[in-house]
Amino acid sequence: RAMSTSAIQQKEIRNITVIGAGLMGAGIAQVAAQAQLKVTLVDTTDKALENGRTIITNSIKRVAKKKHPEDQAKQQEYIDAAFQNISTTTDSKQAAKDADLIVEAIVENIKVKQQLFKDLDAAAPEHTIFCSNTSSLSVTEIAKATSDKRRQQFAGLHFFNPVPAMKLVEIVRTEELQDTVFDQLAEVTKKIGKTPVSCKDTPGFIVNRLLVPYMLEAFRILDRGEASPQDVDTAMKLGAGMPMGPIELADFVGLDTMKFIADGWRETGGIEPSLVTPVKVLDDLVAEGRLGRKSGKGFYDYT
Ligand code: CAA
Ligand code: NAD
Repeated sequence: RAMSTSAIQQKEIRNITVIGAGLMGAGIAQVAAQAQLKVTLVDTTDKALENGRTIITNSIKRVAKKKHPEDQAKQQEYIDAAFQNISTTTDSKQAAKDADLIVEAIVENIKVKQQLFKDLDAAAPEHTIFCSNTSSLSVTEIAKATSDKRRQQFAGLHFFNPVPAMKLVEIVRTEELQDTVFDQLAEVTKKIGKTPVSCKDTPGFIVNRLLVPYMLEAFRILDRGEASPQDVDTAMKLGAGMPMGPIELADFVGLDTMKFIADGWRETGGIEPSLVTPVKVLDDLVAEGRLGRKSGKGFYDYT
């Protein structure tokens, strides 16, 4: 491979640290481990790490079954091999020390993300690439918590839920991101079996810029009492070919995440305000702790 002429020393990405062992972090850790990368999965408590492990176990069984439909021993081998690539810890600074790439997938809150990246910047080696899986926040703003040099190797790496099944990754380019780092991210994305697209650092990037206003508009149909959740979902599945209707998809994404996104965009602007006006049914469900599938109840009941 040709020597890089960039200021940043290039190093092949072998070790990935994933911070946040929730829906997304667990999925990102899983697909990276399946691709033979070494993964360190981090969360704040052992309970959260255990939750991540459960998410991975449930999903990887499906993947293994698909790879080796008739052979249970091979399925188990595949599962064990992937788990051998994953270690877990509650110490994010320690986990940063030998990371070539850090992917953050914690709560959608800019202050919490900035604090984390500030700490990681001090702990990680110079060459470590930093990425956020944020759905809706400005990657440029998050990156401001880090040094000038780190910001040149700081991007959005946006996966989709469920990570093991969705084939897209949006690579979000800030003004400061070096081309060589973008290329490395595109390469690692392909290595883990996903298709990268490049986009600028705008609210929602590509997918969520289109998908979130659509889902909020579906909630407004419910707010106005124009149709039932079931009928909205059936309509979009059978009438528009969507794999899930917008209401069940919102439960799947997480209603807290949906609300963080809509509230955040309303505050920061950069998007047509009428697209993100508050929706009562969403605010009410979140206030009741009905956060969708992950909490057992949302628009629908999963218990
Ligand atoms: N783990 C591993 N594999 C999984 C999986 C999981 N959790 N869920 C689904 N799969 C795989 C299945 O094994 C199956 O694979 P094959 O086609 O190769 O056999 C495939 O995915 C389809 O699954 P199923 O047949 O079981 O079920 P389905 O056809 O109903 O598909 C689905 C399930 C893929 C989730 C589909 O309903 C879907 O695409 N839903 C929409 C999801 C979506 O829009 N996600 C984006 C949300 S927005 C977001 O993520 C961005 C953000 O920032 C908020
Ligand atoms: P989640 O609530 O399932 O998981 C978040 C995890 O982060 C939890 O386990 C929590 O304990 C942990 N956490 C919180 N603060 C932490 C910290 N300081 N250090 C370490 N761990 C911490 O959330 P999620 O759905 O996985 O979303 C994570 C990120 O991914 C968010 O930025 C979200 O916007 C984005 N995202 C979500 C989806 C989706 O469909 N849910 C899709 C794409 C991107």
